Amino acid sequence: MAVNGPLRLQKYLAQCGLASRRKAEEMIRQGRVSVDGKVVIDMGFCLTGNTQTVRLDGKIAILQDKTVTLLLNKPKGFVTTLSDPQGRPIVTSLLRGLKVRVFPVGRLDLDTEGALILTSDGELAESIQHPRFEVKKTYEAVVSGRPARQGLNQLEQGIMLEGKKTSPASIGKLKELNHATRVTITIHEGRKRQVKKMFASIGNPVLSLKRIAYGQLFLKDLPVGAYRILTADDIKKIFL
Ligand code: URA
Repeated sequence: MAVNGPLRLQKYLAQCGLASRRKAEEMIRQGRVSVDGKVVIDMGFCLTGNTQTVRLDGKIAILQDKTVTLLLNKPKGFVTTLSDPQGRPIVTSLLRGLKVRVFPVGRLDLDTEGALILTSDGELAESIQHPRFEVKKTYEAVVSGRPARQGLNQLEQGIMLEGKKTSPASIGKLKELNHATRVTITIHEGRKRQVKKMFASIGNPVLSLKRIAYGQLFLKDLPVGAYRILTADDIKKIFL
């Protein structure tokens, strides 16, 4: 490794492209990281030179000088973790031809499809997920019935979910279908099953859900199951 000056272990793991800094902290806490053969669980631990060997789950962690970030159109039925004890298909199995190891930024439910960013850049992953940047995520939901304007207004203003108010959301186009309504919703939080819980709370459960954009970066016509490598301009759009 090439470390110039003290470098926090979690930051090092992020720069190796193994996870976001926050996820790396979780890995350290779980005792999965060692330095020169000794497990380190101290979050303040700093690497100080170029001669230390860092391992995650026993495998040497090597700094990467080039990062790759891509946008995948996740199909339903795939999990957004890097492994699955239940043996369900994992999203990275869709990345044939990609030489660099990438990890998903955030999550999508098993039965949700659409835009999923994967990256080898732990710092970028951290920024996309950090509440400070309020990265907008837009979903197209098919919900049962016809949501009342009052219910949608409540969702826009914020509702109580598990004891905490949701941040303001914005509701876009509505299209009436048979016994259902297609609606777009933009939120910047990333609580578990948030969109489903929000619509369930106003009496219109989600029947199907697709994420169509991060910020101004839209899936557009990317086929389900396909991915494309993002340029620096694409990455800027995530934060717009
Ligand atoms: N909200 C949900 O309910 N599910 C997702 O997969 C993403 C956002």
